[in-house]
Amino acid sequence: MKRAAAVLSVTLVTALAAAGCGFGDDGPSIVVYNAQHEQLLEELAPAFTDKTGIEVELRNGSDPELAAQLIQEGEASPADVFLTENSPAMSSVEAAGLFAPLDDATVAGIPEQYRPTSGLWTGFAARSTVLVYNTDQVDESELPDSLLDLADPEWAGRISFSPTGADFQAIVAAVLALEGEDATRAWLEGLEANGTVYDGNNVVLESVNSGESEIGIIYHYYWYRDQAESGDVSDHSALYFFGDQDPGAFVSVSGAGVLASSDDADEAEQFVAYLTSEEGQQKLADSYALEYPLDPSVRLDPPVKPFAELQPPVVNVSDLDGATVVDLMTEVGFL
Ligand SMILES: [Fe+2]
Repeated sequence: MKRAAAVLSVTLVTALAAAGCGFGDDGPSIVVYNAQHEQLLEELAPAFTDKTGIEVELRNGSDPELAAQLIQEGEASPADVFLTENSPAMSSVEAAGLFAPLDDATVAGIPEQYRPTSGLWTGFAARSTVLVYNTDQVDESELPDSLLDLADPEWAGRISFSPTGADFQAIVAAVLALEGEDATRAWLEGLEANGTVYDGNNVVLESVNSGESEIGIIYHYYWYRDQAESGDVSDHSALYFFGDQDPGAFVSVSGAGVLASSDDADEAEQFVAYLTSEEGQQKLADSYALEYPLDPSVRLDPPVKPFAELQPPVVNVSDLDGATVVDLMTEVGFL
């Protein structure tokens, strides 16, 4: 494994100083611990406030950071809602007993496979695992049928990914759920031998586009967003979808839940209900994000590959085990 030069994380943790009374009026307000992309919530939260009059204070961080903070704060947490990029962080907060059950009406628009049977949180957006490949260096016909094949020696020195991120770790959690611990460890060992690691999926995309790496493991929206904006870091690359229920076709779910300790549980539930409503799902589809809405009646516009064509493997969102993933990745030397 090569380690690419450290790149400063661009995640700005906007720790708003407001301690519960930071808004200049007496209207209702909620605190959202937000591990989804900050820019997405900066589009969705104001739309919710316009509709309901409920102010939203976003405290941004990563999935593991904010999950750990919630578990540490427990009952004393100021958070009313937790939003993640990927579901393993939702499962760890659920396992700590910190979520209140959601109303049936709140989750009704989201297909059952994208929420836990416990009813303690729900998915509200989805992202597809993809390979990005440099089109000058690789022909699509050379790409493997399975994500698991990337551990083979033929890919030595040709592949990049971002193992410290919650996105990649969710993909590993899916491999673990589908293939078991021994196969996952062996796959990670192969990737460790073959790969160059970067800090962030955008950097992986850049490395593939520039030809520094031939292929990279990312989520679909990084490539589509760059295409929609400028093509600067994607014009020399293309996406490859594994499909066929391969672990590499894993669809990861972004989660939303209400904290049991919330003092504003009704407003918090309204916020989650907005995210899962047809209106909120359409707002997501119309946003810059290019992540998939989960309400089947709402669709992303082309050129994004239709959600219905992804052929993901069947993975129970409750079975994604982030803690074992961190143990395995530590053992193999990624973390
Ligand atoms: Fe992401």
